[in-house]
Amino acid sequence: MAPTLSPRLEQEIERLCERYPTRAAALLPTLQAAQRELGALDEAAIGMVAGALGVPAVRVQEVATWYTMFKLRPEGRHLVEICTNLSCHLCGGSELLDAVCRELGVRPGETTADGRFTVREVECLGSCGTAPVMQIDGAFVENLTLEKATAALQSAP
Ligand code: FES
Repeated sequence: MAPTLSPRLEQEIERLCERYPTRAAALLPTLQAAQRELGALDEAAIGMVAGALGVPAVRVQEVATWYTMFKLRPEGRHLVEICTNLSCHLCGGSELLDAVCRELGVRPGETTADGRFTVREVECLGSCGTAPVMQIDGAFVENLTLEKATAALQSAP
């Protein structure tokens, strides 16, 4: 049997759809609502959202995979994002990504065994002037050093 949306999520999607000219136009907030409830947008979630909005699953997949704010699989309690785009790369961002991954025992994109951290390599975070840059749960750590990264990881609850 195919997974189904909870009654609460169904109601939320209907409320969202009332605010847009078409059901398809409510795709982004619907994905946000689905992620809040389901934790991640796996294949089943993509299918449920597609069914609820009456759009092809491939369209939902395209949008969900385009935006980095959407999780396609469950992640750790804290999201660590390290920029390796040009400015950050030139200032050691790639080496810092490797060092943080080594420290946590993961590769980019993976979650620590205790479920505490997921580490992502990301494109420009819009703070090139303070490169290299890391975000932990959306909070910037600028002019990143391994010491700063370690301190930020240790202070995460
Ligand atoms: S290149 Fe890293 S913040 Fe812009």
